[in-house]
Amino acid sequence: MIPYRDVLKEVLIPEDVLQERIAALGREISEDYIDSKNLILICILRGGVMFLTDLMRQITVPHAIEFMAVSSYGAGNRESTGQVRLTLDLNTDIYERDVLLVEDIIDSGRTIASVLELLSARRPNTLRVCTLLDKAERREVYVPIQYVGFSIPNEFVFGYGLDLDEYYRNLPFIGVVDLDKYPSKE
Ligand code: PRP
Repeated sequence: MIPYRDVLKEVLIPEDVLQERIAALGREISEDYIDSKNLILICILRGGVMFLTDLMRQITVPHAIEFMAVSSYGAGNRESTGQVRLTLDLNTDIYERDVLLVEDIIDSGRTIASVLELLSARRPNTLRVCTLLDKAERREVYVPIQYVGFSIPNEFVFGYGLDLDEYYRNLPFIGVVDLDKYPSKE
């Protein structure tokens, strides 16, 4: 894979801005869940990992973490197909627990809508969504989102958990892809 600088058009959200916003989200979540007895953060792999690990360090109320993975049918496309299947389930019962889903980005909304449907059937006490990035312009299905880090324009972004063909997730900032140098496969 080529160095990230060769595909970077511009930095959309620099590292210090990301971290400041995540600290603020952590404070807000800590206040909202101050009385919770059994908070669990659920990260949807893989894009949400960076965000989860930074966010949890900013949350001061006791909480557990868990991971789940879903895959769009017809993976390889950059567009969500609208159907998702569970590829890694939770190892924990969430019945009567306070569940906070942690996502890197909500685009069409189909992934998180499917996950919400699946998890609500397990009857948690509360079920909310926290996403770092919200690309609302692309929404196809309504999803309630309680915590949003940044609302972003309809740009092809990468870094900080978001990949380009599985690479560059480690970058500490969110960048915009230069489509002349990294053409879309669509
Ligand atoms: C990304 C992201 C969300 C989903 C958002 O995951 O992490 O789960 O797409 O798109 P949607 O709102 O249109 O459903 P992706 O399938 O790229 O997997 P990854 O997290 O492993 O990169």
